[in-house]
Amino acid sequence: MLISNADVHFSERLQTVYHCPADELPPHLIRYTRLLDTFHTRYGDLGSVTIVRAPGRVNLIGEHTDYNGYPVLPMTIDRDIVFIIAPSEDNTINLMNEDSFFGERSFVAFGAITPFAQGDWGNYVKAAVQGLIREGVVEEGKAKGFRAVVGGTIPGSAGLSSSSALVVASALAFLAANHTSVEPVMLAELLARAEQYVGMEGGGMDQAISLLGDAGKALKINFFPLRQESIQLPENVAFVVCNSLVQASKSSSTRDAYNRRVVECRLAAALLSSSLSEKLGRPVYARLLADFTPSLLHCTEKELEQEARLALGHQPLRLSEIVLRLGEDEAEVRRRHCTLKDGSTVAEPPEGFKLWQRYRHVVSEAARVERAGAVLSSGDIDEFAALMNESHAGCRDDYEVSCDELEALVAIARKHGAIGARLTGAGFGGCTVNAVPLGDVDRFLKEVRREYYETYVKEHSESEFVPFRFIDDVMFVCYATKGAGIV
Ligand code: GLA
Repeated sequence: MLISNADVHFSERLQTVYHCPADELPPHLIRYTRLLDTFHTRYGDLGSVTIVRAPGRVNLIGEHTDYNGYPVLPMTIDRDIVFIIAPSEDNTINLMNEDSFFGERSFVAFGAITPFAQGDWGNYVKAAVQGLIREGVVEEGKAKGFRAVVGGTIPGSAGLSSSSALVVASALAFLAANHTSVEPVMLAELLARAEQYVGMEGGGMDQAISLLGDAGKALKINFFPLRQESIQLPENVAFVVCNSLVQASKSSSTRDAYNRRVVECRLAAALLSSSLSEKLGRPVYARLLADFTPSLLHCTEKELEQEARLALGHQPLRLSEIVLRLGEDEAEVRRRHCTLKDGSTVAEPPEGFKLWQRYRHVVSEAARVERAGAVLSSGDIDEFAALMNESHAGCRDDYEVSCDELEALVAIARKHGAIGARLTGAGFGGCTVNAVPLGDVDRFLKEVRREYYETYVKEHSESEFVPFRFIDDVMFVCYATKGAGIV
């Protein structure tokens, strides 16, 4: 077979993107070739095409901190969304998913773009297009659409950010079709807002890591303003993802449980502001939990914690009690703190709002992220793994985002060699991430396969597990790739 200069160039390009040795390139090359063939079969020869990709991510530590203004510490994974595109003559966007299960979608990039049915994959493309038009990056009247073939290797509804990767790839495709670009940090912030189109009031972690990811490194990401620091990943430990096979979809009940946590944090910030204002005799304006810093309030961390404990109460609070404490009208409290971007209101849970518990997780998790960044940089992986374990306990006990299946998977992982094991992403199902010493990886994969996938899953037919074809699809070692872009 004759290999052209272009082929060599493309292979080199893929090698930098996937940060992998040359002998691991063939599967990537095969996949891109297949996507290009599919594009040509579907749309014919449209001249030159553009390839964009956006990776998924695994969050190593820092769960439910981003929307509170605190940092996170994720890394990209070598599973991603790829678009092969060619611009349209008009403003129509035609999408063909390589996986026929998802089917074809088409819409016009103009006016108020109404969503497809709830949970439809096309809504993530619409979110990106609508966001770029609304924020004036692409001029509505002049927008050009595109034709695309879309291929993805990130397991869906698994806490690995397949949806944000789709939003990011869609944005890059729309920008390319319109011959424009946006600086990655700005684009990450814009797309975090844009993705709320699907109804989940997420923070900015997923879009940021997908766009800013660094090959071979994790990122410590801070928000408001968005900034990142790369941290070299350890050489003696692998991060292994295991899928619980319980679906945690951003567009279903997970979304409601997630949004309730967001509202609980907002209510906690409001109550703490009000009680500190009273105590200090001056107004304390704070919107996010991260705004309450001991230096701003001239107090110690201990004093701030005591104040929070008093303001938020040990027991879950009824909305009526919160209203009383804030001294505001109930309708106003609902409007300011319980209303989501789509105009819907988060209802009071039957057991009340658990503000102190949520606060305790967020603040202690934020401290763990700071420490985790420092120990990962210094190569102290045992301490890093211990922090991962503490993070899991906080997510389970205070934030209540774990489930029986995740608990079983974490316990099995620790039994078979993981020195750190925790749920990753929003929780309520999805994946765990496990720190496993390199020498133990093979044994770990074998034993977790046997004890979770071949035994636990079979014995718990009452749980709704997602079927899978290959074990590599649900359990794999993570390799940090380059962030999203044009390939
Ligand atoms: C989801 C959201 C993120 C973040 C995590 C929890 O993935 O999209 O912004 O809040 O949950 O850490």
